[in-house]
Amino acid sequence: MAPTFIDPTSKSRNKAGLRKGHLRLVGTSPDSKRTATATRAKAGVSRPLLAKPARAELAQNLPHPDLPLDRILVGECIAQMNALPAESIDCIFADPPYNLQLSGELRRPNDSMVDAVDDDWDKFDSFSDYDAFSKAWLKAAQRLLKPNGTIWVIGSYHNIFRLGAQLQDLGFWMLNDVVWRKTNPMPNFRGKRFTNAHETLIWCAKSQDARGYTFNYDAMKVLNDDLQMRSDWLIPICSGGERLRGEDGAKAHPTQKPEALLHRVLVSSTKPGDVVLDPFFGSGTTGAVAKRLGRRFIGIERETRYAKAAERRISTVQPAAHDDVETMRSKKEEPRIPFGWVVERGLLQPGTVLFDQSRRHSAKVRADGSLTTRDASGSIHKMGAHVMGATACNGWTFWYFEVEGQLKPIDILRQKLRAETV
Ligand SMILES: C[S@@+](CC[C@H](N)C(=O)[O-])C[C@H]1O[C@@H](n2cnc3c(N)ncnc32)[C@H](O)[C@@H]1O
Repeated sequence: MAPTFIDPTSKSRNKAGLRKGHLRLVGTSPDSKRTATATRAKAGVSRPLLAKPARAELAQNLPHPDLPLDRILVGECIAQMNALPAESIDCIFADPPYNLQLSGELRRPNDSMVDAVDDDWDKFDSFSDYDAFSKAWLKAAQRLLKPNGTIWVIGSYHNIFRLGAQLQDLGFWMLNDVVWRKTNPMPNFRGKRFTNAHETLIWCAKSQDARGYTFNYDAMKVLNDDLQMRSDWLIPICSGGERLRGEDGAKAHPTQKPEALLHRVLVSSTKPGDVVLDPFFGSGTTGAVAKRLGRRFIGIERETRYAKAAERRISTVQPAAHDDVETMRSKKEEPRIPFGWVVERGLLQPGTVLFDQSRRHSAKVRADGSLTTRDASGSIHKMGAHVMGATACNGWTFWYFEVEGQLKPIDILRQKLRAETV
């Protein structure tokens, strides 16, 4: 598909309703999924496509109508960001110039040239120039973030400390720094320093008192085989088939990030339907992963050749089905089910005897959902604590009911009701 390029500075709109200078990217959008949901509802299909909380979230979280969703804006990121509506972005991923300050050619031991980042976009006259640029784009980013939005900034030792100081000076609140450890780093050819095998990501809330930012703790835990996700991520650099190349076989972009890195960033800190902005879009890694995961993206890139490559790349990405991009919900987000409902719904009859797993304790279910023992009565939780002589107990995991001689946890009855509730 030929990219649709027009004068990036013009604000007039073309036939498709796009501001000139935007690249339109075609593909299935979450909007079309919403239409599909409405069509199913009209047709009398009763099963919701999304669990109730997810549908409610989508309704609350409709993107700002003036956002150029799923498009690449070609131009300087500060001006482009300043033209977007305030407090409209859920998450920003920024991979700014490194300011590598390379001097001279870098060669391998066999005398071949190392493909280092020596492009104009990475050149600044001084640290203070770099700092002034960083401050300006970070301020623009701060204006765009929703109060509960978060920002990720990635960099190397050349720039990440300067960016970290700017983030704190501007009032962002650091949530984590994450070390992306590269499994296959480029060797140190001159043998004068350690191999530089990592980059650092800083993840920040908009301010210290920001509440309600997205962190999908349970999704991260399950992604890590049920162990809490740590702040050191082992991920290879982008290579092989994932690496975009031009017709001459050369890399289309010198610092293309691996999709696995963006996958983890977006699954951890965004929800389906969220708007993700990348002001240094490059080859469009953020857009490709966002599209696949059912997030909306806005990319800003000043080099036309990179924007074109990104557009081609993203147009080939297939979005995953809506249900497949839902992530694990935390227990706190699950609907509350009172034990009385289990009795009301006839899943347990009044008079049923419950046991603890070792059958040392027992209690009888009453019609109102309370339990009674020889000397006390109360909720499943109170009676669990009472028989153990403990101060607290989770009755759902303590009590069991008997089916053909086998004990089954009453929690499976709660799960059954939850499945009907969502
Ligand atoms: C480190 S690269 C980002 C690579 C990207 N994450 C990827 O995976 O391909 C930085 C990009 O920002 C772009 N850039 C640099 N300065 C810019 C500016 N002031 N406004 C917009 N884009 C800029 C560069 O052209 C370059 O493509």
